[in-house]
Amino acid sequence: MTAQIINGKDLAGKLREKMKEEVKELVKHDITPHLTVVLVGEDPASKSYVSGKKKASAEVGISSEVIHLPKETTETELLQLIKKLNEDNNVDGILVQLPLPKHINEQQIIETIDPSKDVDGFHPINIGRMMIGEKSFLPCTPYGIVTMLRSIDIELEGKHAVIIGRSNIVGKPVGQLLLNENVTVTYCHSKTNNLVEYTKKADILIVAVGKPHIINSDYVKEGAVIIDVGVNRIEDGSLTGDVDFEDAKKKASYITPVPKGVGPMTITMLLENTIKAAKERNRR
Ligand code: GUN
Repeated sequence: MTAQIINGKDLAGKLREKMKEEVKELVKHDITPHLTVVLVGEDPASKSYVSGKKKASAEVGISSEVIHLPKETTETELLQLIKKLNEDNNVDGILVQLPLPKHINEQQIIETIDPSKDVDGFHPINIGRMMIGEKSFLPCTPYGIVTMLRSIDIELEGKHAVIIGRSNIVGKPVGQLLLNENVTVTYCHSKTNNLVEYTKKADILIVAVGKPHIINSDYVKEGAVIIDVGVNRIEDGSLTGDVDFEDAKKKASYITPVPKGVGPMTITMLLENTIKAAKERNRR
């Protein structure tokens, strides 16, 4: 078997076309969704993600601004800025790019963002609502992954998903979203013994570790769906996933590439959350 490729870039493009139309309608009613992105410091990967978010917003007609603060910014200053953005009626979505410099308590910052503007879906209120299946902002990467899985011709209900990685941003929430789809979920992580015993049982294998090519075909069940969340820059300067794509695709039924896989979907779900935030603000 050789796997079909789930092209996240193409799927993202289709979804963004629809969003463009939706935003046009909103603008007719004087609602232009507005996203404020806060970037602290000069981390090159963060800068690149932030410029991607700004560009994608413009593409669908969302107005966005990036507030770029020096790396010496204090926690108090950042908290004050967030409180100001919470109060600002022109701001629908607030995104603070992570990671923050070490002297700033990330959790404190996340918990200060108004949950109704938390388009990242990181606030404990939104995470809690997601856990119990209530309406909330869903974290963008997990939401993008589930959207990709829904786009292919497989029934999710009853399948067994194995997730490698337990971060608050990807691993933990994607498991919860799949559970909400009646998937059976197993979490693996850096302390898991005999990883391969678990991965070989996966109908859906989600790899979110952050190490290049730690998964090859030896870890994969024949016909599995593989979602590669890793974005690793290797020596030659190119980007590669956590999965050895060329090898694993020999056994999988579907696989996501890197780049053009999960990445474009993450940004697309951010756009969707921002549009949703704008609609809900104006409904109140
Ligand atoms: N850093 C890496 N991924 C993300 C994300 O999804 N949101 C934010 N705010 N920062 C990140």
